[in-house]
Amino acid sequence: MNQNDFLIITANATHVDFAQIICDEYESSAKARGTGIAKRSPDYVKQKMLEGKAIIAFERATGIWAGFCYIETWSHGEYVANSGLIVAPPYSKAGLAKAIKQEIFKLSRKLYPEAKIFGLTTGLAVMKINSDLGYEPVTYSELTQDDAFWAGCKSCVNYDILMSKERKNCMCTAMLYDPKDHYEPQETAQAFREKKGIYERWMRIKKRWRDLFDRDKEKTGGGGTLAAAKRMFSLRSLW
Ligand SMILES: CC(C)(COP(=O)(O)OP(=O)(O)OC[C@H]1O[C@@H](n2cnc3c(N)ncnc32)[C@H](O)[C@@H]1OP(=O)(O)O)[C@@H](O)C(=O)NCCC(=O)NCCS
Repeated sequence: MNQNDFLIITANATHVDFAQIICDEYESSAKARGTGIAKRSPDYVKQKMLEGKAIIAFERATGIWAGFCYIETWSHGEYVANSGLIVAPPYSKAGLAKAIKQEIFKLSRKLYPEAKIFGLTTGLAVMKINSDLGYEPVTYSELTQDDAFWAGCKSCVNYDILMSKERKNCMCTAMLYDPKDHYEPQETAQAFREKKGIYERWMRIKKRWRDLFDRDKEKTGGGGTLAAAKRMFSLRSLW
């Protein structure tokens, strides 16, 4: 399959019945990966569709739902997040996430031309997609400081790490596109190609520390390893 096999459109009121399927997929994908993902309710997803702030994809031949992503605004519209990117497993690795991200990026630029667009991700595929669009990795201090945004992380399994680092670091990599000050997509794509190996290694390290963190919590309720994990997440030069 390739991108031409999908219909990728701005979601509207005719799509609200897909909200439950989409939320079920969020949950099962988070479970399967054992990683964090912010929980979304079907009502929240429906709202995004009704507001015209979401992109939905279907397989052209069958009309089966294939993928989704939506827009959130923070700090009174100063920041936009393209969140909740999901591709139904049968359609993965066909370039669909990339196509959905391109569309949600276009929609975000149209609706909020002045806003900084950002995302948090634990996945290299998403880092690659974002780099192709002109996003660059940034520290969390460059993201919105709106409490409502960070409250969305509460349902993530890594929330304890985020809070122990006072929202300065966590398992996710932050990426940002600033319309007023950004590299060209060719430059950010090239930077990703050059640094891909480092990102891969760094993600493996983070995963190992997550495991140690959990073991420490189980054994002692926090302490030695937890302190070490905190130190590790302070190595700002590595981010
Ligand atoms: C992550 C996810 C969205 C990817 O969807 P997908 O449709 O399979 O991705 P695509 O086929 O569009 O691939 C996107 C790009 O990433 C690349 N890619 C995929 N895995 C990669 C990896 N491990 N390292 C680097 N690049 C990778 C692909 O090669 C492709 O690049 P290209 O177009 O230059 O070849 C999908 O697997 C998913 O829904 N996962 C569960 C939910 C999730 O993790 N959401 C993201 C939350 S931030």
